Amino acid sequence: MKLVGIVGSNAAFSYNRLLLNFIAKNFKKLIDVEVLDIKDVPMFNQSDDQTNSEVIQNLNKKITEADGVIIATPEYNHSIPSALQSVLEWLSFKIHPLDGKPVMIVGASYDVQGSSRSQLHLRQILDAPGVNAVVMPGNEFLLGEVYEAFDENEDLKDAQTVQFLETCIKKFIRFINVVNVLQSPEGMKDLSDTEDLYATGAIDTTVEGIDMSADDWLEQAAEATQAVEGNTYVKLNRGLLTVNQLNYFLNSMPAELTYADSNNQFLYYNHHMEKEDMLAGRRPEQVGSPLAECHPERVFSGVSWVIQQLRSGKQDVVRTQVPTHGPDKFVVHSYQAVRDDNGNYLGINEYVQDIQPVIDWYLEQTGQQLTGGGVDAVSGATSKVDTVSGATAKA
Ligand SMILES: Cc1cc2nc3c(=O)[nH]c(=O)nc-3n(C[C@H](O)[C@H](O)[C@H](O)COP(=O)(O)O)c2cc1C
Repeated sequence: MKLVGIVGSNAAFSYNRLLLNFIAKNFKKLIDVEVLDIKDVPMFNQSDDQTNSEVIQNLNKKITEADGVIIATPEYNHSIPSALQSVLEWLSFKIHPLDGKPVMIVGASYDVQGSSRSQLHLRQILDAPGVNAVVMPGNEFLLGEVYEAFDENEDLKDAQTVQFLETCIKKFIRFINVVNVLQSPEGMKDLSDTEDLYATGAIDTTVEGIDMSADDWLEQAAEATQAVEGNTYVKLNRGLLTVNQLNYFLNSMPAELTYADSNNQFLYYNHHMEKEDMLAGRRPEQVGSPLAECHPERVFSGVSWVIQQLRSGKQDVVRTQVPTHGPDKFVVHSYQAVRDDNGNYLGINEYVQDIQPVIDWYLEQTGQQLTGGGVDAVSGATSKVDTVSGATAKA
């Protein structure tokens, strides 16, 4: 994930620059940060338009191309420095690179309150219609008494502070993914009502008369349909397997498989692991539930958007990378449309995989190497949110 860090100070020596350099160095497995200085940006003057100057165009380009922006602001007289204000004025005058851009605010200052007041002001400024950045709420990273905060290697001294900073960065990565879905082609609309996530309707295969939310929905539905199991044979296209063979076969897939039908009912997963051991945790009693009960409400819009893409045929597969599993994994959720022979939408096949072992194997086999110091296991999820990972959060 490519970010830019804007140093909110134009001083030759700046603690806020140290802070951004530290973030870039210390979290490079999570994010790729380019630190940008503002010391050469001229004072904003509406009568002397310098939008096309190299320095402003460079900021414009770098911000536009980035997945997100971290602004490190000092505090001057309880507000942001005029140098930073000036930059934001240039970037909201004729050009608007921060429009819709996910932004995280951090700050370092002398006072014990560590830039808290300037951060508040900065939030207000970034919210102005001409700027229109999407600022991550909460997670204020304030570095007070900054003259004591760094050691001789320009690293933050306090381990707890570093830990909190890491938490904020990880939340920012997720925030960027969420913002990206909000800014899907349909824009910032709430798409929740485009899909019946409560599965109130019924399709030909819906087993009616059984409470979808019941913990034993599967047992009840199997009895109602006289479903076969065990060593009974099932004829497939193309083959003949017993139900047991089919189960073991699906469990041996190098992916966590989930099937939800076109009525948005969660019908199946290849259950062979406990929820805690899964990349996208599922519990046996969730089977049968409407998708609305498998996701927190805040992701309904994103879930609906993904289903709409598949149902409408706009996309056959929607992929997203989930960066919360650590640097040694590259976890991809793929939402694949299931269609019948006539192309009718039958539901979603969600398969979740850690593809890192395959990447490693490929590199080993071909003798190739990744440039840039290794796989950036957490970057790249710039297009879509992990809308279905919320499935792990079913209460
Ligand atoms: C004009 C001026 C006003 C300042 N006002 C504040 C303030 O309100 N609160 C604070 O914590 N520090 C204040 N400071 C101290 C700054 O926090 C300190 O200079 C800090 O190092 C600036 O960040 P930088 O090192 O990234 O440039 C002020 C400094 C200057 C020059």
